[in-house]
Amino acid sequence: MVCVIGGGVGTASAYPIARAFTEIGTKVISIIGARSANLLLLENEMRNVSHELVITTDDGTKGIKGFVSEALKNLVEHGYKFDVVYAIGPTVMMRSVAETTRPFGLKTIVSLNPIMVDGMGMCGACRVTVNGVTKFACVDGPEFDAHKVDFKELMERQRGYLAEEKMSLQLLEERRCSCGH
Ligand code: FES
Repeated sequence: MVCVIGGGVGTASAYPIARAFTEIGTKVISIIGARSANLLLLENEMRNVSHELVITTDDGTKGIKGFVSEALKNLVEHGYKFDVVYAIGPTVMMRSVAETTRPFGLKTIVSLNPIMVDGMGMCGACRVTVNGVTKFACVDGPEFDAHKVDFKELMERQRGYLAEEKMSLQLLEERRCSCGH
C-alpha cells in the first residue's frame, strides 16, 4: 500500500504516480491539499485512481482543516501500513511530510520538480544537498529519499532573493494598475 500526497499544483505531478500504482494493482491512499477549496486540483481524477482520497484545506473550506502532513500522521496512527509515501508540493510541505514519517521509519520519496527553473542542468536553481552530496534535481532527480534531503539549506536558499521577488511583484502590479489590466 502506498500513500501519494499532492500539495497545491504538486497534485498534477502526484496524479500520474497514483494512477501508475493503481494500474499495477497497488492499493493507493491519496491525500491532496491546498490553501482553500477553490485551489484544489484534480480532485475527481485523484479519486478515480485512489482506493481512498483524503482532502485537506488550510482554511477548512473543504475536507479536513489543516495540512496534508497532519492527515498523513492521522492515517499512520490509525494503523495504515504504508510501504512508501510519495509527496509532491511546496518545499515546506515536503519537509513537513519528511519530518512526519521520519520517526516511523517510513520510506518517503519527494519529487523536487517544484524547485526547478530551466530543467536543463544549466541555471542551478534546483541545486540541493542530498545525503551530504550536491545534486541537481533536474539532472539527478527529481525524486529523492526525503529523509536525506537537506531541507533546511534548501529553504534558506529559496529565501535568498525574497526581497527582489517582492520588488518585482510590486513593479508588475503597479504596471498592471497603470495600464488597467
Ligand atoms: Fe536549472 Fe536544474 S532547473 S539546473
